Amino acid sequence: MRAAVAIAQNLQDPLSCLQVKDVPDPDQQLGWTTVQVKASSLNMHDLWTLRGVGHDPKNIPIILGCDVAGVTEDGREVVVYPVIADPDAGFGDETLDPNRNLLSESHDGGFAEYISVPARCVLDKPAHLSFEEAACLPVAWSTAYRMLFTQGQVQAGDRVLVQGASGGVASAAIQLASAAGARVYATSRTAEKRELALSLGASEAFESGARLPERVDVVIETVGEATWAHSLRCLRPGGAIVIAGTTSGTSPEADLGRIFYNQLRVLGSTGSTRTEFARMLRVVEQMKLRPTIDRVLPLEQIHEGFAAMEKGESAGKIVIKL
Ligand SMILES: NC(=O)c1ccc[n+]([C@@H]2O[C@H](COP(=O)([O-])OP(=O)(O)OC[C@H]3O[C@@H](n4cnc5c(N)ncnc54)[C@H](OP(=O)(O)O)[C@@H]3O)[C@@H](O)[C@H]2O)c1
Repeated sequence: MRAAVAIAQNLQDPLSCLQVKDVPDPDQQLGWTTVQVKASSLNMHDLWTLRGVGHDPKNIPIILGCDVAGVTEDGREVVVYPVIADPDAGFGDETLDPNRNLLSESHDGGFAEYISVPARCVLDKPAHLSFEEAACLPVAWSTAYRMLFTQGQVQAGDRVLVQGASGGVASAAIQLASAAGARVYATSRTAEKRELALSLGASEAFESGARLPERVDVVIETVGEATWAHSLRCLRPGGAIVIAGTTSGTSPEADLGRIFYNQLRVLGSTGSTRTEFARMLRVVEQMKLRPTIDRVLPLEQIHEGFAAMEKGESAGKIVIKL
């Protein structure tokens, strides 16, 4: 089968380490099932793997791609929960299993014609979505769901700031928070992307770093260094910043004085449990939400997609159609 494979890692030139090539079909394992991949979407995680950040070099070569929508051998249209972990090892929360891993970390990922995954990871695709749309959900939308509702405890009427509005996680957070009845403020670096944020349900959209009309209860942060100071300034006393990513860098000034004086809560968030994933799918189906797709590309043009993601040129998810 054809697949996009990380064959090496290079911090300066990650895309030179990605090759589309013929590979053997996946092996069958007890308790695992094969899915014919119809679509898979790009995540920053794939770029981090190619850069050699947070990914063990001994797992190279590996097929990239954490997001899968496809069809099972018995014809079910499905999406794949992307975390491979043992809930018991995480005291009931598989995101806390010290040995958890995401598809494409220790097991081949979804930029391929077929993928083998644990049977528990296969859930029904929301019926109103195409495979391309459904392939945007697994990582970005379940991460956003956990950030908002588990870690951030967002409720109807809360005020939520989403930084870097056009990103995969961020755009999902705008839609989910708005569907839950929160008042959503969003920031983005371009006017076009701020328009996108408004179309997704944000009440108002601002340039990165701009003063908001009021302080917020929760900030959804995936940008990191470039927006951290602003995120802290925007919180009401006692508010929470939920952080799941650091696209622009990992080491901003901590501003510890502001954190203790205003009794701010800084909460990390990674992935989602299978239960959160299933609830996210239910919200998407119930509210007829649709992920924002920047572009759909064939597997052979995957480098073009990653180049756009690397330059921050995309608005919404970049999808590979298999
Ligand atoms: N912990 C987890 O489980 C988890 C899951 C998914 C993703 N992540 C991480 O979360 C981050 C976002 O992932 P993603 O897939 O949503 O990425 P993405 O789609 O590429 O979005 C990144 C967003 O960050 C903003 N941004 C980037 N550089 C910026 C800068 N210098 N200043 C201001 N804004 C900037 C951009 O927003 P604008 O262009 O709109 O300004 C961009 O849309 C990544 O670091 C990823 O590794 C973590």
